[in-house]
Amino acid sequence: MTPLLDVQQVEVAFYTKDGVVRAVNGISYTLEKGDTLGIVGESGSGKSVSLLAMLGLIPTPPGKIMGGKILYEGKDLLQLKRDQWSGIRGKQIAMIFQDPMTSLNPVMTIGNQIDEATIVNLGLTSKQARQRTVEVLTQVGIPRAAERCNDFPHQFSGGMRQRVMIAMGISCNPQLLIADEPTTALDVTIQAQIIELVKRLQKQMGMTVIWVTHDLGVVARLTKKIIVMYGGSIMESGPIKPIYARPKHPYTIGLLASVPGATINRSDELHYIGGNPPDMIRLPAGCAFAPRCAYQTEQCLREKPGLIEVGKDHTAACWNLKTVEQNPVLAKSESRRAAGSQRG
Ligand SMILES: Nc1ncnc2c1ncn2[C@@H]1O[C@H](COP(=O)(O)OP(=O)(O)OP(=O)(O)O)[C@@H](O)[C@H]1O
Ligand SMILES: [Mg+2]
Repeated sequence: MTPLLDVQQVEVAFYTKDGVVRAVNGISYTLEKGDTLGIVGESGSGKSVSLLAMLGLIPTPPGKIMGGKILYEGKDLLQLKRDQWSGIRGKQIAMIFQDPMTSLNPVMTIGNQIDEATIVNLGLTSKQARQRTVEVLTQVGIPRAAERCNDFPHQFSGGMRQRVMIAMGISCNPQLLIADEPTTALDVTIQAQIIELVKRLQKQMGMTVIWVTHDLGVVARLTKKIIVMYGGSIMESGPIKPIYARPKHPYTIGLLASVPGATINRSDELHYIGGNPPDMIRLPAGCAFAPRCAYQTEQCLREKPGLIEVGKDHTAACWNLKTVEQNPVLAKSESRRAAGSQRG
């Protein structure tokens, strides 16, 4: 069966005055209908750029798709011309961004904004569109939805605005919903509500969801499958349970060690990965993580490792998987006691 989404060796670069930013460097994954995928990785690792490519939203120039395919139901999205996106963006694939204020029009009522989506994408009349808008706003838990249609974005709280974004996202019944860190700016309780909301909507509508975050706790609550990105490449990917229980890649080990209480970190110490994130203009020839890795060998600096099967549907890109497995120490990571820890 053709997967809903088949991402093959996608590469994206930005030609800036300082040099070529290698934002995404050959990432591949597939997604079946109804799946939920979590994409994690620290800031600048290429998460958003890889998804913007999926919606034809890479600004060109300075951006350029350097290679690869993104097959959506077998059709390569990277080959679409500007006028061919209308049936796809918003209608088949919808995206929710981290900051709703950047995607909502501040001078247009939210009712009109959501109406517009279904008028353009589904060909509804304005009356039908308003009905649909009230329906989706109610579905995402906006009280007095019909009245609130006349309000402007700034009249909503942060959490409510994010709900409005989700309502807009689902208004055209997309098959694939991409949520790019939609809860990072929200406090923990609201964040939990939004996660539950998306889970419920996904169940009701049978949507496929890609959820981007740097919060490993969030993905654990939402998804069964994750991709760990670093320096524009996939370091590890697979089902969440084995990855959380026994991460294989030194970077994933480092990431999970910074989550107090994770299996890899039974102590009350907070570990963090020493060193700095990579300069995406001067990425190492080999593994992007090598300069910060405790297991670094000469080969790591020279040659980029490919993804190796390490379990069922579980892959990791590392030259030294055996050494890591035998000795999952965090030599190059630094640790300190968790703040507020009571134990001695
Ligand atoms: N328009 C642009 N011009 C130049 N460089 C860009 C542009 N957009 C993104 N980049 C660069 O591409 C790289 C990947 O960025 P991306 O936004 O995908 O990171 P991210 O993983 O989503 O990070 P965050 O968690 O902070 O959102 C970064 O080095 C970023 O500076
Ligand atoms: Mg991002």
